[in-house]
Amino acid sequence: MVSQVPFKTLSELQRVGERTLPAGVREYVQGGSEEERTLRANRDAFGHYHLLPRVLVNVQEVRTDTELLGRKTPQPFFIAPTAYQTLVHPEGERAMARGAAANGVLHVVSTLSNFSLEDVSDAAPGGERWFQLYVHRDRHVTESLVRRAERAHYRALVLTVDVPVLGTRDRQEEADFHLDPSMPLGNLDPEVPPSRLGPLTQREHAEHRIDPSLTWEILGWLKERCGLPLLVKGILSPADARRALDEGASGVIVSNHGGRQLDGTPATLEALPGVARALGDEGEVYLDGGVRRGSDVLLALALGARGVGLGRPPLWALAAGGAEGVRRWAELLREEFGNALALTGCREVKDVGPGLLFQK
Ligand SMILES: Cc1cc2nc3c(=O)[nH]c(=O)nc-3n(C[C@H](O)[C@H](O)[C@H](O)COP(=O)(O)O)c2cc1C
Repeated sequence: MVSQVPFKTLSELQRVGERTLPAGVREYVQGGSEEERTLRANRDAFGHYHLLPRVLVNVQEVRTDTELLGRKTPQPFFIAPTAYQTLVHPEGERAMARGAAANGVLHVVSTLSNFSLEDVSDAAPGGERWFQLYVHRDRHVTESLVRRAERAHYRALVLTVDVPVLGTRDRQEEADFHLDPSMPLGNLDPEVPPSRLGPLTQREHAEHRIDPSLTWEILGWLKERCGLPLLVKGILSPADARRALDEGASGVIVSNHGGRQLDGTPATLEALPGVARALGDEGEVYLDGGVRRGSDVLLALALGARGVGLGRPPLWALAAGGAEGVRRWAELLREEFGNALALTGCREVKDVGPGLLFQK
């Protein structure tokens, strides 16, 4: 359903998006793992910190732009990678790309996209994109993927490391969520025969592709084959964050996969300060998980993130209004972020720091 009237608020986009998702797909998108403690914690953590506004600062002109991995961007948030977007909208990743590019929003494209990474680029040629990599059991497949991403002008590789195996996803199991084995996966040949005929669970679909034997050796292997900067996504431990840098990464994304992998991990916002301290200014720190509003973006930046990713919100926007829904979502979020800057007495992103945090 595409609304004729522009969506007025982010909450409205979320409500309409959630309602529009087909049953089954809704459980797949919304759900977390096991009892969903981590899923809830991600969101709740934004209520555990408070912002302390400074007043009587001239905020007539407020700028939301910043740099992510050295490239200018109009806002410090990006679209986190999410798989199989044609489940949400027939134009899937291509519509997501168009909506993102309309506001200059960085779009991270998943290995498990329905459209190929080249098709996604062609849908919005001027757009800024990073490629999210799941390392395939067959390294030739991985090598070809990263070379294709570089050729198609993706600006970074995001190596996801928190899915050696899939988390236990009760909600989608109970909803009997299955994937059609004939669903196109534009980045991967249909080379791996499905383990059986008929619809597959997500576990069956993903696990026979993703390599569970991966170790730190993969970072050097990728750096030898690809000139793009590398971010490691799915880091919670400060020691792992340091190791990622030592092995050649430019930074990390503090993430627990939106509460979909190990249940019981800390909220990403709570893990962020430790990781930011461990890296200092030697590497860039990003965060995703539970970010919904402009003030959330500000809080994450105050706690040490250079930028934040959002996973479910752009999917709700895509479901609610296709490319136009995504465009409107990004516009609203940027406006809110600008508003939060002004209300805390910041004129630009550089003014955001730990001084904005309320200490009892
Ligand atoms: C439906 C769905 C599919 C996802 N697919 C991927 C994926 O293919 N690759 C990946 O690295 N992360 C994937 N993620 C995780 C997101 O990139 C991100 O870490 C998470 O959604 C952030 O939490 P949020 O949804 O609360 O913003 C997925 C998340 C969701 C909700």
